[in-house]
This record gives sequence, C-alpha cells and structure tokens, in this order.
Amino acid sequence: MSSTTNHVGKAPSRVEGPAKVTGAAKYSAEFNVPDLVYGYVVSSPIAKGKILKIHADKVLAIPGVLQVFSHENVPGLAWFDKSYKDDVAPGGSPFRPLHDDEVKFSMQPVALVVADTFELARYAASILDIEYKESTHETDIEAKRDDGHEPGKGKTGYKPPVRRGNANKGLAKAEQHIKQEYIHGAQHHNPMELFGATVHYHPNGKLTIYDKTQGVYNCQQYVTKVFGLSKEQARVVNLYMGGGFGAGLRPQYELFLSVLAALELKRSVRLSLTRQQMFSFGHRPHTLQTVEMGTGPDGALLGLKHSALHETSRFEEYTENVVNWSGMLYKCPDVHLNYQVAALDVYTPLDMRAPGAATGSFALEVAMDEMAYAAGLDPLEFRRRNYAEEDQNENKPFSSKKLREAYDEGARRFGWDKRPMAPRATKEGNMLVGWGVAGGVWDASMQKAAAKATITADGKLTVSSAAGENGTGTYTIMTQIAAETLGLPMEAVTFKLGDTTLPEAPVQGGSWTAASVGSAVKSTCEALGEKLLKLAQKLGDSPLKGAKFEDVEFVNGQIRLRQDHDQAVVLRDVLQTSGEREIEADSSAMPNPLTMQKYSMHSHNVVFVEVKVDEELGTVHVSRVLNVVAAGRILNQKTARSQVLGSIVWGISMALMEETVMDHRFGRYMNHNYAEYHVPVNADIRDIEVVFVEEEDPHVNPLGVKGIGEVGLLGVAAAITNAVYHATGKRVRQLPIYLDKLL
Ligand code: MOS
Repeated sequence: MSSTTNHVGKAPSRVEGPAKVTGAAKYSAEFNVPDLVYGYVVSSPIAKGKILKIHADKVLAIPGVLQVFSHENVPGLAWFDKSYKDDVAPGGSPFRPLHDDEVKFSMQPVALVVADTFELARYAASILDIEYKESTHETDIEAKRDDGHEPGKGKTGYKPPVRRGNANKGLAKAEQHIKQEYIHGAQHHNPMELFGATVHYHPNGKLTIYDKTQGVYNCQQYVTKVFGLSKEQARVVNLYMGGGFGAGLRPQYELFLSVLAALELKRSVRLSLTRQQMFSFGHRPHTLQTVEMGTGPDGALLGLKHSALHETSRFEEYTENVVNWSGMLYKCPDVHLNYQVAALDVYTPLDMRAPGAATGSFALEVAMDEMAYAAGLDPLEFRRRNYAEEDQNENKPFSSKKLREAYDEGARRFGWDKRPMAPRATKEGNMLVGWGVAGGVWDASMQKAAAKATITADGKLTVSSAAGENGTGTYTIMTQIAAETLGLPMEAVTFKLGDTTLPEAPVQGGSWTAASVGSAVKSTCEALGEKLLKLAQKLGDSPLKGAKFEDVEFVNGQIRLRQDHDQAVVLRDVLQTSGEREIEADSSAMPNPLTMQKYSMHSHNVVFVEVKVDEELGTVHVSRVLNVVAAGRILNQKTARSQVLGSIVWGISMALMEETVMDHRFGRYMNHNYAEYHVPVNADIRDIEVVFVEEEDPHVNPLGVKGIGEVGLLGVAAAITNAVYHATGKRVRQLPIYLDKLL
C-alpha cells in the first residue's frame, strides 16, 4: 500500500493560508482587548543633542489625554542599573528609550503620548512642544574612510576576518589583476506590517503582550529584566507576522513603550509605529568594499583581498560577516580579508536578510565577473575553474555541496552556452540585452529548540514550540514533519507557535528555524511514537509484540513492522483502547558539536539573469531570473520556492531601486516612506524561476535541511549588475543602478 502520509518534500499549501486571507489571523496591533488606550510616539527631529524641556501641560490639559511619558517622568527601572542585553545584541550598551535627555540619532523616540483614542494621541503628539539643544553630528560613512577600526567587543558568532598565506605575494605572481571599489547605501527592512504591540493588562497585574517580533522568548527576557517582572507576569505572544526580515530579531521600542505605559497606567495599551518611524531603528548598513584579485595560467585565482567598512552607532558595535565568504566560495591559496566599522550618530544597524553576505557577495561576485573578463574567460567557466572542494576558511570538508550541479542545471536551463562573451553583442529593437551570473554561500545553522506533542483519543495531534512565523511557512513545515513522523494526515495535526507558554525556541532568524525547530518537532513526535508503540504492544494479540521502535513505522494511521506491512495496528484503536484521554511527550534538539567540528555546513546558490537596457533612457528591465539553490532537503517545495521568489524580488530591488538616502545636514534618512523608498511592483517582475538541486546531507541535522530564508538573495544584485555590463559595456560598482549611471 502506498503511503498517503508522506508529507515532507511535497508542496502542500500554507495551513494558515485561509486564516490569513479571511482576516481571522490576528497581528500584534489588532488584538481586541477591553478598555484599550492608545500610544503615539514622538520622534526627535535632531540627530544629536539634548532635550532641554518637554512642555507637556498644554497636551495634558486636553480631555482624553492620559499621560505624556518622557525621560522627565519615567520611573527608575530595573535595567537602568544593569547592562541588559537581548539575544541578538551586539557589543556595547543597548539604546534605552526615554532614559535621559540625550538624543543619539534622528527620529529617536523622545516621548510617548497616551490617550483614549489613536486619533487624539496622534493629534496631541503633533502639538507637543519640545525644546532641544542641537550639537554637531557625524552621519557620513564616506567621511570615515580612513577612520574605521576592527571590531573589538563583537557579538556572539562574530567571525574575525580570515588571513591565509600571503595575498600580496599571490597577487604579485598574477598575470591578470583587478582592484575595484563597490558601494551600496543603507536599506531599511520595511515589512508590510508596521511594528506594533497590544499589551493586555489583566486585573491581577499580569500582562499578555502581543508584540511584533521574531522571538517571543527574547522579548519576554527583555521585558522581565527591564521592568523587574517575573515570567508569569509577562507572557509574550506573536502568532503571525507581515514580514520581519531581521527587523524583529531584537526587541524594538514599541515593546518597551507599550509595556511601560500599561504598567504605569494599569491599563491595556496599543501602540503602532508609523511607516516613517519604521526607518528609525535598524538597517542594512551603508557599506564600502574593495576587492582585489589576480589570476595565473588557466584562470586560477592566485591572490584575493577583500575589505569592507560600514557604520555602527555610538552605543553599540554592530558587526556582520561581509568578507569571510570570499575566503570560502572559491579556491585560493593566498587570501587577506579585512573588516572595519566606524561609529556614527545613527541608530545601530541590524541584521537584514542574509546580513553581510548579501553585501559581500555583491562585491565579490561583481569582482569575479570583472576578473573573468580580464582573464578572457566565460564568467561561469571562471567560477568552475576555481571551485572550492573544501572550506578553506575552516580547513574542513563540506557536509555537502552541490554547487557544481547547480551550475550545470542552471546553465542548461538558461541556455548559457549561447551567450556571446563580448558586451553589447545582442540587441532587440532599441534594447541592449545582457546575461549575467553570480552566486553565494550561506551558513546552515542550527540552535537548540524544544517542543511538546499531545495526541488525543480521537487521533488529533497538537504539537507546539515557541517558534516564529515570519510568513515563511513555519506552521506548514512543522505540521508536515509532525504528521509524517506519526503517520497522520496533515488535517489531524495542529501546530502552535509564538507564545512563551510553549516550549522554548530560538528567535526566527539565520535561516535556522527549519533545522532547529523541525528537528525538535521530529524528535518530540518520535518520543510520542515510542509511547504509542508501548501501548500498541499491550493490545491483545498485538502483532507488534517484541518489536523495537526502530522496527516499526508510522504510516497511514497505522503502526506497522517495517519488514512486514501486514503486521499492523490502527493507531486510533490503540488510543481508544488505551483508556488514556491524551498522551503527551516532550523533547528537544540541538546541534551536534562533533559534526560541527568535522564539517563545514553551508548552502549555496547561483543566479542567472537577463536584462534589457534601454540605451536612450538608461532604464533596466530584468526580463529573466533563474535562481538555482542547493540547500539540502527541501521540506516544502511551495513555501521554499516562495521564499526564493521573494529573495529574487528583493535582489532586483537591491540592484535597481532600494536605498535609504541620508541628508547629512540633518543626519536624517529623507525618503522614509513607501513613495520615495522604492521597492519593485508587479510590473517590475517578469519571468522568475526557482530550482532546487537535490542535495542529500546526512551530517547537517536529523532532517538534512539547510534552511532557505536567506541564501536565495545572494548573487541576485551582482548577477543583474553583471548582466548590465554584458548588455551595455558599462561596469557599475555602486548600487542601486539608477539610470544616471547608464547614461
Ligand atoms: Mo534574519 S536577518 O536572521 O531575520
């Protein structure tokens, strides 16, 4: 009998899809709780200085305005005496809203107005008179070119840059040589859903906090430490997100301000930031990079140097891995990587989808294209010749790496062999046509995670873990894994997440949720399966008597012997005759340190792009994108593909549109709205295709999964840039490729 309960690797639709499209899914700032009051944040118009006076009297006199919170009246809080850090905090001292009279960055929250209605809070905030004393700010990373420093304190997981061999000697031997600078501006995450929170203040003083976050436990830790609350007093919930992309990895100030107001007023409070305020915390830093490389006979890379500099804030030292990928993606004996940051009067940058790698792979992969042309080699052939068979950074074999297969598959599907080498060789009407290629490498990470599973007599399984759902498919893939492990239809399984009353899971980030929470769900369902087998063996005449757990499988609602499928019992019979109302198990999963020592675990991709450039107008149309990804086992073909489609759209955005522009006179990001912060619309997206190559990985984790959230973004912007060169003969080294760069 074939199995109808093999779900992993198929393409089921999102289990939460109907809830999302019917509006039944509740987002953080939508929960209706009784007697809500509303907060509105007042943002600093200056980038640096002091608050002299907050004239709150006029505002407080308005009927319905309840309070104006600011540093002038915020009570002493637990964290003010300690150096509190959240799970994702870099080195330094986190920003403390309403802490003192100091302004450290433009649009810093300086006051919170709370009123009976949102409209009144917003009006009152608009007329709140605040006196400032401005001081001189520095916000321009270009002015800090020679003033960067190697990060000192670094956050957990920060990898210092690689040096191996002697890059200068390697480069001196090179027959062909390039050295160029690559730049891109700041970007802000801008998920569709605004950051917001609804804090339900219960009569007993306990809080249920619905916050927009990628990690409910991280937020609970924050709230309990900052306000000196017990865990029972602060339950944090996040069931759905309208996108996160890294912006929700750290507790943001809507959480602090709404909890503060709820505790002080003993009222339930809702606070939602505005779109403009979404530009006031966290961003992908403006980054300046230089890549130098040289090749010898047959296009072999002989030396490579890659350096990067980006901004951090004055109060925290943000780091991301920008350059180390360059020591790993291609084989090269002599490599010197250099990484620096410089402090400016801006808010601390924050991980944004494939942090560091999105940036680093842009510079590396455009440089690789330039090098290929200098060496007279096809850019894909040049990459093949320098294929890294092992991770040279760590001097370890890869647990698996099917990038060569991705090259083959991509080249075949795209028709790469028909590409003329010379730029400006193809024209369609008044459009210049160009093809480009680029790719990348990303970590296959895993974190400790726990889960719980309960099956009831009617055969319904509930599995839970406080994981996140950024919209990436967590509900669905966990349902698939649980259902398959216990041989159930997906409809019989409910997966619960995003609540600190559930077993602990890490923040949803780093593309590690599938590996971490997925492994925990699998191991928990196996633990439940062992209990069910024992009960099955107690049935009279049980055909499973004496069988070990390894001897049986759970398929089609049955427990059966692997070797003899006729020796089976129906799971529901086991549950109903057991006399138990429900059976429960919990378990957890964590990375295996021995495997980590032995193998380098990474996902890879390669992107093929066609652009059409209107030479007179300088406009770039991305007519075709093919993204071929090697990321281990694909749990759900549909949700995985959707994530890579989203990455492609973002890559097009990064290449052609997306940039937050700072006016350094004010130290302020000026295009802080969707009208001027451009992202692609439907008409910008033409033919985009995603292919996963088969990649079995017995080492990486029990599921063989590497995660798909970030790798798909790598190389997209570089492949577009390279295609633009192929179309026009113009080499652009600064993103976005606005039309003035092509005229
Ligand atoms: Mo991702 S930038 O780790 O949310």
